[in-house]
Amino acid sequence: MPPLKILFVSPEVEPFVKVGGLADMVGSLPKALAALGHDVRIILPAYGSLRLDSHWHARPDPLGVDVGTSAHWARTWETVLPGTKVPVYALEHEGLFGRPEVYAGPWGNHPDNDLRFAFLCRGALNLCLQIDWIPDVVHAHDWTTGLLPLLLNTTLRHTPLGRTASVFTIHNLEHQGYCDRRVLDFAHIPPGEFRPDSTESGGAVNMLKAGLYHATKLTTVSPTYAEEIKTPAGGWGLDSVLRFRAADLIGILNGIDPAAWNPAMDKNLPRPYDQRSVTPGKAAAKLSLQRRLGLDEDAHIALFGIVSRFASQKGLDLVAEAMPHILDRMHVQFALLGAGDPGLEQTFRWAAEAFPGRVGVHVGYDNSLSHLIQAGSDFFLMPSRAEPCGLTQMYAMRYGTPPLVRSTGGLIDTVDQYVEGATPAVGTGFRFQDATAPALYNTVGWACATYYDRPAELHAMRLRGMDRDFSWNLSAKRYEELYGWAVAARRSQT
Ligand code: ADP
Ligand code: GLC
Repeated sequence: MPPLKILFVSPEVEPFVKVGGLADMVGSLPKALAALGHDVRIILPAYGSLRLDSHWHARPDPLGVDVGTSAHWARTWETVLPGTKVPVYALEHEGLFGRPEVYAGPWGNHPDNDLRFAFLCRGALNLCLQIDWIPDVVHAHDWTTGLLPLLLNTTLRHTPLGRTASVFTIHNLEHQGYCDRRVLDFAHIPPGEFRPDSTESGGAVNMLKAGLYHATKLTTVSPTYAEEIKTPAGGWGLDSVLRFRAADLIGILNGIDPAAWNPAMDKNLPRPYDQRSVTPGKAAAKLSLQRRLGLDEDAHIALFGIVSRFASQKGLDLVAEAMPHILDRMHVQFALLGAGDPGLEQTFRWAAEAFPGRVGVHVGYDNSLSHLIQAGSDFFLMPSRAEPCGLTQMYAMRYGTPPLVRSTGGLIDTVDQYVEGATPAVGTGFRFQDATAPALYNTVGWACATYYDRPAELHAMRLRGMDRDFSWNLSAKRYEELYGWAVAARRSQT
């Protein structure tokens, strides 16, 4: 296929700004696309927390952004995605992006998120016009960029961007960006777009819905989630829209960045390892993890790790409920890293106090510790109620740590169920169906029995997980193909 110009617009990009897996995806797929020969560029906001170090330089011209009633100007910073030639632009605007956080401050979601992200969408498109780089496709991500396809279809239709196709990826349907209709005026979107088959939901603007109706093509991050969101149970009120657009919606599994997540090259581990050295490598990581989190130093106890946002989506309330019973009856330890819901943070802090040496918790964000948990745990716990794709279970398998997951979304597509004693041996982890504490308890018991009674089978399971190809190789080609369809569809309309 001829090289395409592809613009990514996203509120998070690893390694610059990260809240969750969206950042990992947007920081790694462009590398794979650039390796296929495409001209890929990325635009994100320059939040107050973004370190504009010497790798960044300010572009000479200010960027006028057509929002609101008076002129808005941004300063544009430029760098490349580390290790690549992929240009990355950050839009600086003190009033909208000067604060450090992406979505929410100490008092909850920023009340002007609608205006902040409308500014990102319009600013990104204006920057393309300013530098005279007209993308073939704009790839937008989640609710914050939902207005982008709409802008291309309306306000910017008769500019050089009018022929640009859009691909909109749903990373999480739960967050939709409900806001006042003022955002339409602010973004100079015609008021007629405030209707149920465009932006309106329940009397408000739904930014995600705008993306779903207006993008040339839609994707989500796993094939199973693509099916789930078309049902009332998984559709968060938008299943009818997704059924309406079903012919343009596909699920493409995320890949992982094999350079960032490679146990053989990982500087966060005391002893990097590969398949041949997995046993000593993991033993060294386990000891360092136990020391780091104040767990008893015991090489022969089954250690369950968690790295997660503490949000209801992740099912950690099930862990909180089952944990005392598990600790009462099973010889196990827990290592937890995460932050979010204050109630869960407190519950896990209490658990660490109530079970000293057996529960280790770090509340906060710590990339280095997340790598150590992936390597030093015997099992990785991820009992999500919903999981569009999930990356941490893939990292776990790459590090020889079988995940224990609920059967939902991308967890079904990435974790193969272990079948005890099967010949030939199968499975890379443990799955359970019911989102209940007893179901979790039973599955932890099954993993424990495997650890203590069937170590050879567990070892083989570790190796099967490490052998799986989770790279972008396949999925980047699927995106490439989809961009081709989007460009053809858009050109046929214009
Ligand atoms: P989600 O995007 O829903 O949070 P994913 O599994 O797709 O779930 O991605 C989560 C990403 O965030 C992973 O890279 C994971 O390692 C990282 N992460 C989550 N919580 C923390 C934390 N407390 N400290 C460091 N990294 C974290
Ligand atoms: C979202 C989802 C997660 C997915 C990530 C990257 O945050 O919750 O399942 O892996 O986006 O696509």
